[in-house]
Amino acid sequence: MAGSGKTVVVGVTGGIAAYKTCELVRALVKGGHRVKVVMTEAATRFVSPLTFRTLSAEPVTVSMWADAPEATVHHVSLAEEADVMVIAPCTANVLAKLACGRADDMLTTTALATEAPLVIAPAMNVHMWRKDATRRNVSAMRGRGVAIVEPERGELACGDVGEGRLASVECILASVESELARVRDLVGRRILVTAGGTHEPIDPVRYIGNRSSGKTGFAIAEEAARRGARVFLVTGPTHLPDPFGCEVVRVTTALQMRAAVLARADAADAIVMSAAVADFRPAIAASDKIKKSQAPENIRLEPNPDILAELGQRRGTAVLVGFAAETSSVEANARAKLDAKGCDLIVANDVSDPSIGFGTDENSVLFVSREGTERSGVVSKRHIARLIVDRLSGFMSG
Ligand code: PMT
Repeated sequence: MAGSGKTVVVGVTGGIAAYKTCELVRALVKGGHRVKVVMTEAATRFVSPLTFRTLSAEPVTVSMWADAPEATVHHVSLAEEADVMVIAPCTANVLAKLACGRADDMLTTTALATEAPLVIAPAMNVHMWRKDATRRNVSAMRGRGVAIVEPERGELACGDVGEGRLASVECILASVESELARVRDLVGRRILVTAGGTHEPIDPVRYIGNRSSGKTGFAIAEEAARRGARVFLVTGPTHLPDPFGCEVVRVTTALQMRAAVLARADAADAIVMSAAVADFRPAIAASDKIKKSQAPENIRLEPNPDILAELGQRRGTAVLVGFAAETSSVEANARAKLDAKGCDLIVANDVSDPSIGFGTDENSVLFVSREGTERSGVVSKRHIARLIVDRLSGFMSG
C-alpha cells in the first residue's frame, strides 16, 4: 500500500481497552499512514511499547526524559509532526488533564502542543463516564473543536453494564480519516442553520412541541464551522451544548425563530432550515398556569408563518436548503416542497420510522434537487451533515 504521506500520532492511556489500540494502529498502518505511538506510563502496564513498536515500525515514546539531552526539542517534535492526533483509549484522568491544559507527561504535552486536529475516544467505567466532572470535561474539549468518539454501551471490564466501552476501531478510524480529509472549502462564507423544534406555549408551563433533539442541525452547523464558514445557528430548545465555532442564538417559539432567522438571512451565503418549526401555535397563551379544574375543552390553534417559504420568496443569491419530514410518499412530497418553498435542495426523511429521524443518532435521507434524487442510506447524523455541507459547497462554487 502506498503511503498517504500523513502522520497519525496515536496516544494510548492506561485502560484495559488499550489492547484494542493495537488493531487501530494496524488499520492505520494498513491505510498507508505513518503512525507514531505515545503512551502514558500507565498504558505500558496494559500493552508493551514493543507491541506498538512492532506494529507501527516506528519508535514508541513514553518518557519525556528518555532522550535527554535533546529532550527540549523532542518534547514537542511529535506534536509538530502530527497531521492528526488520536487518543484511544482516553481515561477519565487524562481527559481531565487535557480539559484543564495540564502537560505533565509526553502524551499530554503532545496533545497540548499540537496544532493538528485532535480525536479523543474515551473509555472508562459507566459511573465515571456519567459524572458531572467528566461531562464537563467532554464538553470543554468539544467546545475547543476536539472530535469525541463516544464510548459504546455494553458490558465493561469491571463487570458493570452501560456506556463506557471504547468505540469500535471502525468508528475511531472513520473519525481520524474524516479529520485528515477535512477540507477548508467554506472560508469566507456565512452559513445560517436552524435546528431543534419550537415550543408553542399553552400557558407558562405547558407547550405544544415535537421530538426534534437538535442533533441534525447542530451537526450541520459544526461541520460548516470546521470547514471554515462563519456559522450562525438558530436553535429551538435543546439540551445540546453549543457546537464548536458557531454563533448560537437560542429561541423558543416559531415567531422568535422567524425573527432571528430573518435578521441574519440577508448576510448569509447559504441557509439550511433543519428545524422542526411548529406549523401551529395556540391562539391564546394563558398568562397564568391553567388549573386542572379549569381545563379548556379545546385549544384554538392559529398558523405560524412558514419561515422557509418566506426565505424562498425573498432570497437573493443565497443557497437555500429545506428539510421535509414525511410519513409517506417521501420523495414526491419532498419534490413538491422543493418548488413550493423555492429551495435548491430538500433533505427528506421518513419520520414514521422510529429508528431514524427525530432524536436518533442515525438517519436515512433523500437529497431531492432539480438534478435528481440521491439516497444517503442509514448513516450517522454527522455523516449526513458532511453530505449536506458537501452539496452546499458545490452549489456555492457552481
Ligand atoms: O433534531 P433531530 O432529532 O436530529 O431530528 C431531525 C429532524 C427529524 C427534525 C430533521 O431531519 C427534519 O426533518 N427537519 C424538518 C422538520 C420539519 O419541520 O419538516 P416539515 O416537512 O414540516 O417542514 C418543511 C421545511 O419547512 C423544513 O425545512 C422546516 O424547517 C420548514 N418550516 C416548516 C414549518 C414552518 N412554519 N416554517 C418552516 O420554515
